Amino acid sequence: MTLDDRTTVLPPVPPQAPAAPGAPLDGADGRSLASLEAREVTAWFGDRKVLDRVSLTMPAGRITALIGPSGCGKSTFLRILNRMHELVPSAALAGEVLLDGDDLYDPQFKLTDARRAVGMVFQKPNPFPAMSIRENVLAGLKLTGTRASRSDKDDLVEQCLTRGGLWNEVKDRLDAPGGGLSGGQQQRLCIARSLAIRPKVLLMDEPCSALDPTSTRVIEETMKELAQEVTIVIVTHNMQQAARVSDQCAFFLAAHGTPGVIVEHGDTEAMFSRPRDQRTADYVHGRFG
Ligand SMILES: Nc1ncnc2c1ncn2[C@@H]1O[C@H](COP(=O)(O)OP(=O)(O)O)[C@@H](O)[C@H]1O
Ligand SMILES: [Mg+2]
Repeated sequence: MTLDDRTTVLPPVPPQAPAAPGAPLDGADGRSLASLEAREVTAWFGDRKVLDRVSLTMPAGRITALIGPSGCGKSTFLRILNRMHELVPSAALAGEVLLDGDDLYDPQFKLTDARRAVGMVFQKPNPFPAMSIRENVLAGLKLTGTRASRSDKDDLVEQCLTRGGLWNEVKDRLDAPGGGLSGGQQQRLCIARSLAIRPKVLLMDEPCSALDPTSTRVIEETMKELAQEVTIVIVTHNMQQAARVSDQCAFFLAAHGTPGVIVEHGDTEAMFSRPRDQRTADYVHGRFG
């Protein structure tokens, strides 16, 4: 990233009007929106503690951006939010992750349900290259054992590709291989694939860092649309992107080999224009990281 990416900060999108207190939040598709809350999350790889008592509420139907220098634990935090951290043999964790108040790590909460409810899009687009576009979208159904008729599948493919911002570009070649799409299209295909299993939360780990500016803007527009129906948590190194897309931000830092912590979090506009902590001000203005 260049300094220029970070020195001009555009105003963020205005937050949606808050729902009446106590009212369930409904997404654009009529399903209830879910909040995600991390409480005192601590993570280790072997003996090394990489996150120390990180607490963060990611409100329903909002976009939360995680920012901070490399190595401060953002990806680890994201993987804890959908139980991928435990796939690493040396990994351990303490704390709680609550999806609408239910602890994802409670033994009663099935692992498959946790991963279905909290989807993930990675930095490098990872469609199945030899599979068709259509099969890519439907791939998650097989993995989660969800059955659907041919016409239901057709509807789902169209709906997910539309929500992923890709339908118009691929509707005439749904049987072409996913690997033949451009990088930005592949990333949108991965978003569509994630949406097909109807997650409540979508985690995105630097989803645009391998993409050109035009594809990046298309994905940002897609994210803003999606926030109406799914709660989004995005890791980004691009401060302009954080400012453009997110409602709230959390600034992670791991100083001199200490575990990562959240230095400051809050409303994005406030964090960029009036940071409370000098380290946040230095980071968002591109003075380090
Ligand atoms: N699989 C792993 N095994 C051991 N250490 C890891 C592993 N993944 C990440 N780490 C370490 O954990 C720390 C946080 O990494 P990460 O969550 O990837 O940070 P970020 O996404 O903010 O760059 C780093 O010091 C990194 O080296
Ligand atoms: Mg990372």
